[in-house]
Amino acid sequence: MLLNFVILVSLFFVPTSCEVDGFIYNGFKSSNISLDGIANITSNGLLLLTDSKTQDQGHAFYPNPIHFKNSPNGNAFSFSTTFVFAITSDYPPLDGHGLVFVIAPQRGIQKALANHYLGLFNSSNNGDKSNHVVGVEFDTIYSADFGDMNDNHVGIDINGLRSVANHTAGYFDDTGLFNNFTLISGKAMQVWVDYDGRTKLINVTVAPLHMEKPVSPLLALKYDLSPILNQIMYVGFSSSTGSVPTHHYILGWSFKANGKAQELSQLPSLPRVGRKGTSRFVTIGLPVISLVSIVVATLVVVYYVRRKKYEEVLEDWEREYRPQRFSYKDLYTATKGFREKELLGAGGFGKVYKGVMPVTKLEIAVKKISHESRQGMKEFVSEIVSIGRIQHRNVVPLLGYCRRKGELLLVYEFMSNGSLDKYLYDQPRLTLDWNQRFRVIRGVASGLFFLHEECDHVVIHRDIKASNVLLDGELNGRLGDFGLARLYGHGTDPQSTRVVGTLGYLAPEHTRTGRATPSSDVFSFGAFLLEVACGRRPIEPRQAGDDLILVDWVFSCWNRGNILEAVDPNLGNDFVPGQVELVLSLGLFCSHSEPSFRPTMRQNVLFLDGVVALPELSALGVSSAGLTFDHRGGFDDFIKSYPASSVNAHSPASSVAESLLSDPR
Ligand SMILES: *[C@@H]1O[C@H](CO)[C@@H](O)[C@H](O)[C@H]1NC(C)=O
Ligand SMILES: *[C@@H]1O[C@H](CO)[C@@H](O)[C@H](O)[C@H]1NC(C)=O
Ligand SMILES: *[C@@H]1O[C@H](CO)[C@@H](O)[C@H](O)[C@H]1NC(C)=O
Ligand SMILES: *[C@@H]1O[C@H](CO)[C@@H](O)[C@H](O)[C@H]1NC(C)=O
Ligand SMILES: *[C@@H]1O[C@H](CO)[C@@H](O)[C@H](O)[C@H]1NC(C)=O
Ligand SMILES: *[C@@H]1O[C@H](CO)[C@@H](O)[C@H](O)[C@H]1NC(C)=O
Repeated sequence: MLLNFVILVSLFFVPTSCEVDGFIYNGFKSSNISLDGIANITSNGLLLLTDSKTQDQGHAFYPNPIHFKNSPNGNAFSFSTTFVFAITSDYPPLDGHGLVFVIAPQRGIQKALANHYLGLFNSSNNGDKSNHVVGVEFDTIYSADFGDMNDNHVGIDINGLRSVANHTAGYFDDTGLFNNFTLISGKAMQVWVDYDGRTKLINVTVAPLHMEKPVSPLLALKYDLSPILNQIMYVGFSSSTGSVPTHHYILGWSFKANGKAQELSQLPSLPRVGRKGTSRFVTIGLPVISLVSIVVATLVVVYYVRRKKYEEVLEDWEREYRPQRFSYKDLYTATKGFREKELLGAGGFGKVYKGVMPVTKLEIAVKKISHESRQGMKEFVSEIVSIGRIQHRNVVPLLGYCRRKGELLLVYEFMSNGSLDKYLYDQPRLTLDWNQRFRVIRGVASGLFFLHEECDHVVIHRDIKASNVLLDGELNGRLGDFGLARLYGHGTDPQSTRVVGTLGYLAPEHTRTGRATPSSDVFSFGAFLLEVACGRRPIEPRQAGDDLILVDWVFSCWNRGNILEAVDPNLGNDFVPGQVELVLSLGLFCSHSEPSFRPTMRQNVLFLDGVVALPELSALGVSSAGLTFDHRGGFDDFIKSYPASSVNAHSPASSVAESLLSDPR
């Protein structure tokens, strides 16, 4: 009878939502843990918070909410958690950043920063009282900004990364003696975090796996968590990498509110790291033997580190491209180890470094592109190599390439005057007068004509804009980065929507269908023409939110009968009005929303050279309705309503245009 009553009562008190007060993961194989960022579960059940990606972050949260208090102003319950982690760096002793056990008001973490922000906060919310976040960090990098004590410490973080308590990583043994260890040793370590809701004491204890829990905690902090923790919270982990690829693993985890976390058992094993067993020699203890083995081990380690450091990927199909192949070691030496100081720029596809080749002293620019999938790689390499073989005065010479795991390196001739955009937007520090600009425009037109019609096959550039036009020593405009977008254009790459072109230069049909064509390049070329003549970007964000759409504005100037109003004011009166008018009109013509209305690059070259006179715009079917920038293109920030293309393809104007502009071949 009494038993029945107890069962009945407990039935009534089962929480209605899926809130729980405890769980255990002995490995994460087919678990329902909630992941974001680059976090993933390995095939043998390790939770891998971050892998070899740099400057990135990973989060994993227990999917269900946890009850931490009975009422909003109540006392936080006691809780206890234990987990096993391991941190390995691809290039020890260098490493990425650490990991944090987190209690947060929501499942997952949004808009946090990688690097020393540990994927937990960003520069604006770090330290904010409204965060309601408790963390226990295992930090492997010294960040002076957050008052870190060293590059190997454990800290308790309340709402921010400036720890309220910290200690060098290690444990106190039974005699009270402190033993330190290195967090990035790659060895599994167990952590216990215990909070006593009555005494308000937070204990953090860490020890190598398989060791009994040390009696004295590493950190014991008296801190009332009641105001920090909400009634309902989520628990999980966050970690981040910096410039060194670092793996953060969690092997197992258990948690319990109002009780003691369950013991972990049968954890998955960590992947082997290529270490040579010299331990037997050492334990024999003969000084000579141990000395020799230490030397041998050092050499082996140095050999493996060096081999790993310069490791490349070379597949069978690449044999024929041997002459275009650079060794990674040479590129590494040329760029002084891809030092930040050698950085020339960073674009959508990767970072560009300046270098000087070791023997030839040739000045080069190396573009480092991280690329995980091998899809399209073969076609891409064959394309760039074939372009590299044919040189054109207005295309940046591609000298060759190199491939590593997840990375493609393209080697270009160094262009001493940098990219054109600096001359347009960095005024008056850097300027080009009108004649120089016009020469650059003609050069780019002829470079693009070459890619479209004079190569072995049609090469679509896909990303024409001022920042992709480089100026050589004689201020000739040269197209760089051709075809790169193609590498991302296969739709399987999650980044593809971000990088297959640049907002403001993308033709409307290109964003709609995802297909790049020579006429979508012409559209971008049109945006480029306006950009160079006006000294403005295609879309200029303005405060009130009514962004200036360059093509609309130039059109309105033309409509008012004064297209020259649009010319870059930095040019003063020092320009050739006829040429400016030609460039602006051609820019509008190329911006036509209907691809078949746009001139080809061959026609563009003829117009710019004055061989064929550009007809009146009004005769070419250019009207405000026919000029369309796709403001959407996957960029929610830029959502706008704007009249779509509505030009009738069979209008008389279009046939005028067709007959005027028929291919003169
Ligand atoms: C996963 O979810 C199911 C259903 O919600 C639950 O029964 C199970 O305990 C969860 N597993 C873990 C490890 O939390
Ligand atoms: C997780 O790993 C699987 C298989 O290893 C892979 O297919 C998937 O893309 C990975 N997910 C992330 C987010 O890296
Ligand atoms: C910082 O993170 C908070 C919380 O996710 C977010 O609301 C805020 O927009 C972020 N700030 C920046 C500058 O990213
Ligand atoms: C971190 O540890 C150092 C050395 O023990 C100590 O001087 C410092 O006050 C500690 N910082 C905090 C926030 O506890
Ligand atoms: C551990 O302690 C020793 C002796 O104090 C010190 O030399 C060493 O640098 C410490 N190691 C780490 C990883 O802190
Ligand atoms: C925390 O550590 C102290 C010893 O420093 C111990 O007395 C106390 O019981 C511990 N509290 C918890 C919740 O484990």
